[in-house]
Amino acid sequence: MTSGADHEFGNLSTDLKLSLVEGYLKAFTSALRSKFPELWYIDAFAGTGERTVKTKAVPALNFLPAIEEKIERRRGSARIALDVSPCFDRIVFMDKKRKHCAALETLKAEFPAREIDIVRGDANAAILAELSSTRWVGKRAVMFLDPYGMDVAWSTLEAIRRTEAIDVWYLVSLAGLFRQASHDPKNLTARKRAAITRMLGTDEWESEWYRFTPPVADLISTIDETHLRIADVDAMEQFVGKRLKALFPAVLPPRRLRSDRGVPSFSLFLAISNPEPKAIGLATKIGNHILKART
Ligand SMILES: C[S@@+](CC[C@H](N)C(=O)[O-])C[C@H]1O[C@@H](n2cnc3c(N)ncnc32)[C@H](O)[C@@H]1O
Repeated sequence: MTSGADHEFGNLSTDLKLSLVEGYLKAFTSALRSKFPELWYIDAFAGTGERTVKTKAVPALNFLPAIEEKIERRRGSARIALDVSPCFDRIVFMDKKRKHCAALETLKAEFPAREIDIVRGDANAAILAELSSTRWVGKRAVMFLDPYGMDVAWSTLEAIRRTEAIDVWYLVSLAGLFRQASHDPKNLTARKRAAITRMLGTDEWESEWYRFTPPVADLISTIDETHLRIADVDAMEQFVGKRLKALFPAVLPPRRLRSDRGVPSFSLFLAISNPEPKAIGLATKIGNHILKART
């Protein structure tokens, strides 16, 4: 049975996502440990430190025996970051759910000698508060943005970019964009428009993703105007990539993540805020190696 503190989320590609980020965290601290006095990890959608994976029971059928329900608890991003060696000097966990923050406090208690801060609240506000109170000299950080949906505001990414010290792994919800950008623009409400614009930091997506065909009249009839979304999920991913590249000095080709039914659901991007060629070179080398190596 699952308990009240269980955090069930994700699918098969969640393991891939977490293994990519873990690979980067390990390589990051190994490469920079001797070069920077302080290495930080900021997990802005931290969860509980654990992921509960439930496999449904299957009743016996013909000659096949019944299979019992299976409940597994796997490491979430918070615990993964705490396990990284060489270790981070400071870790900040953020989550808006009280129950998740309580679970993170329990996790923190396992590591009394480590500097771990837990912030409860909306990630955008928490990130802005954290970044505005930090001097980045002598520090480098990795941030993980792992929302369920379209929670990250463009202004948050701008603040991250300004630090010139953070490498950010950003899970972009393609499913969220696809849902909000209704195929028929009659269903594109002001609220949906605002959600997409807040995430992408521009309203230019609308003219790129929709085509308006004016009405055509001949002697017999008038063919109605059409105005439909022409962008598919690839075009949306490309648009996000273009936006990120316009903001960050370097952005790696993303890793597409799919639902268990094979539907594209997320794109995992790595963006580097430090404009120095050496920093970009190192982050790109590690990131590309990890992104290409793991399937
Ligand atoms: C996909 S889960 C993160 C999983 C986590 N990275 C892990 O691997 O265990 C998303 C988390 O973000 C939290 N969350 C959702 N919206 C948020 C927001 N606006 N600000 C901060 N946390 C939020 C949820 O409570 C949830 O714990």
